[in-house]
Amino acid sequence: MKNKSIIIIGGGVIGLGIGWQLAKTGASVTIYERDRAGRAASWAAAGMLAPLAEAHTEEPELLELESESLALYPQWVQELEADAEMSIGYRVEGTLIVGLEADDTDQLRHLYEAQQHLGLDVHWLNGREAREIEPALSPRVTAAIHCVTDYQVDNRLMVKALQYAYQASGGILHENSAIEKIVIENGVVSGVQTQDGLRETDVVVLAAGCWSAQIKGVPDAIQPPVRPVKGQMMALQMEEGIAIKTVIRTLRARYPTSVYLVPRSDGRLIIGATSEEMGFDTRLTVGGMFELLRGAWEAVPGVYELPILETWAGLRPGSRDNAPILGKTPVKNLIYATGHYRNGILLTPITAYEIAKLILTGETSETIIPFQLDRFLK
Ligand code: GLY
Repeated sequence: MKNKSIIIIGGGVIGLGIGWQLAKTGASVTIYERDRAGRAASWAAAGMLAPLAEAHTEEPELLELESESLALYPQWVQELEADAEMSIGYRVEGTLIVGLEADDTDQLRHLYEAQQHLGLDVHWLNGREAREIEPALSPRVTAAIHCVTDYQVDNRLMVKALQYAYQASGGILHENSAIEKIVIENGVVSGVQTQDGLRETDVVVLAAGCWSAQIKGVPDAIQPPVRPVKGQMMALQMEEGIAIKTVIRTLRARYPTSVYLVPRSDGRLIIGATSEEMGFDTRLTVGGMFELLRGAWEAVPGVYELPILETWAGLRPGSRDNAPILGKTPVKNLIYATGHYRNGILLTPITAYEIAKLILTGETSETIIPFQLDRFLK
């Protein structure tokens, strides 16, 4: 049904991506965004497309979803760059997970074996081989896992491209417009209460990231179990001699914070991230910044000389089991697309394509069945 009216709550990459896919078919789509579009987790992210490096060995269905979304990226990039008439900084140089000194080697080997057990495309490198790929790595790097197919995209460029493509396709965007309530009548969604009054609609998509559980009107039992998980980040300016090409990650258990370094085509080097249960607190802390700098400096000592361009903290929308919440709910025509936690940028294509398909055809594909809300209701 082409002329359905759809309201999407949340103008991050998930809401914009779904909205863009729907608006392109001629559907009537309106996004309500509490702040500026794409300026929350979508902006704070590092843009790593890393199902292998972040492999969830105990969560094979999530790994499968992430791998499927990564496989969609070339098509997604081509379609979005054509519609938005701009590059989104998709880069395919891969990722190195590095171990420092002998202490890390056992743990790195353990991770490598788990990845191999899952059949992932990973390669073991000694320190010299790792430095051949990335000369800026420390001489203390004794081993590395090369995740050749873990890529990256510039998430801030993707936000800009999605906003442009969505609006150019006829999608309506209201920024600084928080939704007060989802209106449900007799188990069917009928509209949303905005700051300017009631807006009726056929379908509501809840894509409000870590704010998803705060929208009133949804019965308590089916509130999405999503909470904010704080990540402190910074960006440095790369200079000659420290022009990193691959994404570099340190091991998870070396210090409280595993650090990643993500080189952008414009010369920025993104360093992240802490993982903190601090509610909606986005203040930077000395400890957080220290952990990032220590981890980055140990892996790539040359960062010591680099200027700091920016510091920030974002809030990941973490669900109870770390996987996204996608698809139908017990309320007719209320669709969830939230809880993407550490992988929102990676999971944007599959979420946008699958949720748009669900709304247009009424059919839930096999791909998203394991990620429906009902897994928490059993
Ligand atoms: N995916 C990286 C992070 O959440 O920090």
